Amino acid sequence: MLRIIWFFCVSLVALAFVATTIQARPGKRYDKTTNTCRILTSAKLNWNSDHWGLGAKKFKEVCKSCHSRNNGKGAKFLYMESFSSKGWNKVFARKRKKCARDGSWNVLTAEELLVVNDYLYRNANDTYDPNDADTCG
Ligand code: HEC
Repeated sequence: MLRIIWFFCVSLVALAFVATTIQARPGKRYDKTTNTCRILTSAKLNWNSDHWGLGAKKFKEVCKSCHSRNNGKGAKFLYMESFSSKGWNKVFARKRKKCARDGSWNVLTAEELLVVNDYLYRNANDTYDPNDADTCG
């Protein structure tokens, strides 16, 4: 009996460890600004689909127009893995970063901001999972 309890505890600790260190590609994102749950299904986020393409495209077109490497605009180099999923959510929910406050984001519609957030959330620095069919190969 003691062995069973021991095994259970060890498994639980191991599971908690795995759960906190690796996050599979998230399939959902709670969006604070709209108080909605956004479904990030692979069909929707397929590279060629409009939805997925739009988030990646707008990030490149708008955010990376300043946050590229060696930009002369005083903006830090940013890419999707610059933050964790939660970190990106904060950036978009709080809108306190310099560029969000000075109107540089205004070229994007509210919906476009949501899909840029979706895109970054799903590809953040803590979402890599080698066992996920989505990321292998
Ligand atoms: C017109 C140029 C410009 C555009 C467009 C722009 N930014 Fe910025 N951003 C800046 C500048 C300048 C700063 C302040 C310096 C810094 O922290 O990089 C900044 C700061 C930030 C920071 C804080 C960086 C840190 O580590 O503290 C984040 C995050 C950020 N921007 C994200 C974005 C996102 C996401 C977009 C697109 C929706 C975007 N920016 C579009 C110029 C821009």
